[in-house]
Amino acid sequence: MDLWQFLVLLFVLLVSGTRVTDTQRTTVDPSLEIYKKLFEVKRREQLLALKNLVQLKDVHQQYKILDVMLQGLFKVLEDSRTVLTAADVLPEGPLPQDEKLKDAFSQVLENTAFLGDLALRFPRIVHHYFDHNSSWNLLIRWGISFCNQSGVFDQGPHSPILSLMAQELGISEKDSDFQNPFKVDHTEIISSTDPFQKALRQEEKRRKKEEKRKEIRKGPRISRSQSEL
Ligand SMILES: *[C@@H]1O[C@H](CO)[C@@H](O)[C@H](O)[C@H]1NC(C)=O
Ligand SMILES: *[C@@H]1O[C@H](CO)[C@@H](O)[C@H](O)[C@H]1NC(C)=O
Repeated sequence: MDLWQFLVLLFVLLVSGTRVTDTQRTTVDPSLEIYKKLFEVKRREQLLALKNLVQLKDVHQQYKILDVMLQGLFKVLEDSRTVLTAADVLPEGPLPQDEKLKDAFSQVLENTAFLGDLALRFPRIVHHYFDHNSSWNLLIRWGISFCNQSGVFDQGPHSPILSLMAQELGISEKDSDFQNPFKVDHTEIISSTDPFQKALRQEEKRRKKEEKRKEIRKGPRISRSQSEL
């Protein structure tokens, strides 16, 4: 799978909220219990995507993918928050019936959970965004709180993720025995020279250059013959 196929796959994962389909709706009322099962399926897909990402090893590729993914996640979260708060949807339920609201509801739960995976697996890069952008910072806090009140994370394999991500991101105080379960893997990738930070800096430099180039291009056109001189 090349980088772009991978990206496309991730995007499909990101933007497709889990839906209670029409066939299911005619037989059973969409309830939280049904949603919880769909949530499980979604989480398995996300964890598979995460595994692929971790296996990439190439820090620069990982950075680029994470960058795109995080931007996408935040955007989806932000839009969903807007929709939900405008309609006064409460996290503790009942699960909204309206398709658009239901979508937004599941987007918040699923994307916050995935953000939790990323925060634990790639703490530095998620911190880079979280620590430097107050609107994203507030958004994650809101997402965690929404998920926590939804009851979907109360039991099952995903119950620890909210608390772990809150501790990793410094939203809640770290338990004395808190340990990011993935920190061990991670320190292997991040050696003392910290290639992640280096990659971040390089990528930022590259972007600045690119932006400058774009600005120059927007300026007066230099004709081809001139530029070849
Ligand atoms: C913070 O996030 C918002 C929302 O995505 C974005 O518009 C803004 O440019 C970001 N600010 C910084 C400093 O990165
Ligand atoms: C979830 O809510 C409970 C009860 O209000 C609280 O004790 C707990 O700290 C919250 N967890 C997170 C991760 O915010």
